[in-house]
Amino acid sequence: MGSHHGRLSIRKDPFGTTPEGAGVDVYTFSNGRVTVSMLTWGATIQRVETPDRRGRTENISLGFDNLPDYAKLSPYFGATIGRYGNRIAKGQFSIDGNKYQIPVNDGENALHGGTLGFDKKVWKAKVVQTSSHVGVAFTYVSPDGEMGFPGTLTTTVTYTLDFDDDLRIDYHATVAGKPTVLNLTNHVYFNLAGEGSGSIEGHVLELNAPSYTPVDSGLIPTGEIAPVAGTPFDFRRPTAIGKRLREDHPQLVIGRGYDHNFVLGGKAGHDGLRFAGRFTDPGSGRTVSVRTAEPGAQFYSGNFLDGTFQGIGGKTYRQGDAFAFETQHFPDSPNQPNFPSTVLRPGQTYSTRTIYSFGTK
Ligand code: GLA
Repeated sequence: MGSHHGRLSIRKDPFGTTPEGAGVDVYTFSNGRVTVSMLTWGATIQRVETPDRRGRTENISLGFDNLPDYAKLSPYFGATIGRYGNRIAKGQFSIDGNKYQIPVNDGENALHGGTLGFDKKVWKAKVVQTSSHVGVAFTYVSPDGEMGFPGTLTTTVTYTLDFDDDLRIDYHATVAGKPTVLNLTNHVYFNLAGEGSGSIEGHVLELNAPSYTPVDSGLIPTGEIAPVAGTPFDFRRPTAIGKRLREDHPQLVIGRGYDHNFVLGGKAGHDGLRFAGRFTDPGSGRTVSVRTAEPGAQFYSGNFLDGTFQGIGGKTYRQGDAFAFETQHFPDSPNQPNFPSTVLRPGQTYSTRTIYSFGTK
C-alpha cells in the first residue's frame, strides 16, 4: 500500500481510575486511514482500526472497553510486557553469581514479568508529533527489587504511526545500581477479519524462520534450536494457520496449538530490522507485516482464549479467535547459555524496534 497524505491527529480522553485512585487515559491517534487507541494502563494498544480492501474500516485488535476488565481478566491484550516477556523457568536466574526469584504465575514458572508486570502499571505518557509521525511515548520507572528483578529500570516505549500505515514501536531502557535481565515486547492480539469475528485459522502466515525453540511441558525451551523443515512449524512459504494445527506433532500438543518462539533468519537491513512475518486474511484482504531488530518472535495462536469473557465489541472470545506475534529475545534466556544474552548493565542502553505495517492485498 503506497503512502498517502492525510492529516495526523491525536486526542486524549479519560478512560478510568485504578482502585488505588490513579487516573488512566486513552490516547487516540490517526493518520486519517489507520487509527490506534492506547491506554496509559500497561501502555496498552486497545484498538487498531484499519480499512479492508474495499475501504471498510474495522477494529482488528482484541481488547476491553473498561479498565476493571483489563485489570481482572486480560490475557495481556495489547499490553507492553516487562521486565521479561515470556517465561523464566521457576522464576529463577542469577547474574554475576547473585540469585534472583521472580514470583511465579504460570504453573511453576514466571510469565511476562511475574504477577504484577509492566502490563499492570500506569505509565506516564507524552504526545509525540512531527510532520511525519504521531503517537505517544510511555515511560515507567521500575524500582530495584520490583517483582524480584535487580536494579532500578527506566523504560520508555514510543508508539508512532506514519503515512505508510506503519505502527513503529521503539523500546529504550537503562538500569541503575545493579545489572538486570530485560526482554520487552508488546502482546497485541489481531484478528484481521475484525475483532470478535471468529477464528483466525484461515489467516495465511509467512514466517522468516528457518528454526524454532522447542519447549518442555511447562513451555520452557529445551535449549535446542530445531529446524522447521518437514514440521508444522514451517511457514517459510505462506500457509494457512489452521492447515496443520491439529496434527499430532508433540510440540503442537504441548502448546495446545502454536505457542512457540521462532528464530528469525537472514541478516538485518541497513535500518537494523529484518522481515519477521506477514499475516493475511484472504476474506477482508487485510495484511500485517512485522519487521524487527529482535532475534525471535513468539507466534501464539490464541490457544488459551476459552470463552470466559467478552471483548470490546460484545463478542465472546474463544480458542483461536486471534493470534499474537511477540517479537522478543528467546524465552528463558537468563538460564540458557547458548541463547543471545538478555542482561542489561548500568551504563548500557537497551534499544530495540519493531514495526507493524498494515495493508491490504
Ligand atoms: C504468551 C504465552 C502464552 C500465553 C499468552 C497469554 O503468548 O507464550 O502461553 O500465556 O502469552 O495468555
